[in-house]
Amino acid sequence: MTPATARAQAALTDLHPPADDILDDALTGLSRTPKRLPSKYFYDAQGSRLFDAITRQPEYYLTRVEQALLDDYLPAIANAIGGGAHVVEYGSGSGHKTWRLLEGLRAPVAYTPVEISRATLLASTGRLADAFPAIQMLPVCADFTRPVPLPVPSRRPQRTLVFFPGSTLGNFTHDEAVGILAAMRQVMGADGRALIGIDLQKDPALIEAAYNDAAGVTAAFTLNLLARLNREIGSDFDLAGFRHHAIYVRERSRIETFLVSQRVQDVQVAGHRFHFDRGEAMLVEYSHKYSDGGFATLAAAAGLAVADARNDPRDWFGLRLLRPA
Ligand code: AVJ
Repeated sequence: MTPATARAQAALTDLHPPADDILDDALTGLSRTPKRLPSKYFYDAQGSRLFDAITRQPEYYLTRVEQALLDDYLPAIANAIGGGAHVVEYGSGSGHKTWRLLEGLRAPVAYTPVEISRATLLASTGRLADAFPAIQMLPVCADFTRPVPLPVPSRRPQRTLVFFPGSTLGNFTHDEAVGILAAMRQVMGADGRALIGIDLQKDPALIEAAYNDAAGVTAAFTLNLLARLNREIGSDFDLAGFRHHAIYVRERSRIETFLVSQRVQDVQVAGHRFHFDRGEAMLVEYSHKYSDGGFATLAAAAGLAVADARNDPRDWFGLRLLRPA
C-alpha cells in the first residue's frame, strides 16, 4: 500500500455495501427470456482496463467531447458554485475530469468519491490526495444508487456539488435513473447542485460506430463479461461461441448491446445447464441517449430542475447543472 493509499484508508467511511452476488445474478439473468446479464459486472480489473482503452478509440467520442466541454464550461461552473464546495463524485474519478473540476472550482473544502469497489476507491483517492493537499479527501465506500450519508468535512462547506460524468446514468433504465437522481437530490441538500454528463441523441451511425470500434476493443470489453464469469463462478462460456452486437434502437433512444450465440450450445453454471440457440441474443447493456427536453423531464421526475445547460458545438454531449426543484 502506498502512503497516499494508507491516508485515504484512514479517512474512509465504509458503509459496507452488500457484496455483489455474481453467481445469483448470473443464474437469474440466464433463466430469463430473453436471457440477460447485468452490465455492472463489466468492470473487473481487466474490464476497467478495456474501458480505458475504449475511451482512446477514435470512434468513442463521448470521453473526448465531454472533457473538452468541461474545460470550456468550468469558469461558468466555478462562478455558479462559488467557493468552499464539498465535491461528491459518483464513481471513483482519478482521471482528467475530476482533476480539472477540483482545479477549476474555487477552493473546494472536501472531495468525497462514492464507489462500491473499496480497492478502486482507495487507489484513486490516494492519487488525488497527493495532487490536492488543500482539499480534504473523504472517500465513502457505498452504492450510489441509494442515498449516501455524507462525511462531515472539518471546514464547513458552502454547498454540496455532486459530480456524475461520463453519461453513466445512461446505463440505467428510466425508473432506475429517476431513483438515482432522487437519491442524489437528498445527498446534495436544499442548496446543493449536481453536474451531470449526458450523451445526446444524434445521427445513429455516429452512435453505433462508438459502440462498434474498428479495432474491436468494445467487442473485447463485452466478451470479457463471459471471461469474468468463467474466472469467478466457474462457468464454461466458450468466448469463441459468442459475438458482440451493439445497435441503436431509435424508438428507445438507446444502444442495446448483446452477446449473440454463434451456434447451438449449452453452457454450465454451477451445476445448471443453459441452452443457447444459434443466433440467440443475450442482452448485456443499455446506453441511453438523451434529448434536451427528455433529460429535463427525467430530472423533474426526481424533483430536480436544470439550473444551467451546456452542449459542445456539435450538440453531441451535454453537461447539466441541476438544483432541487
Ligand atoms: C461508461 C457507461 C458511459 O455506456 O458509453 C462503453 C460504457 N460500454 N462502451 C457507455 C461502455 C460500451 C459507457 N459508460
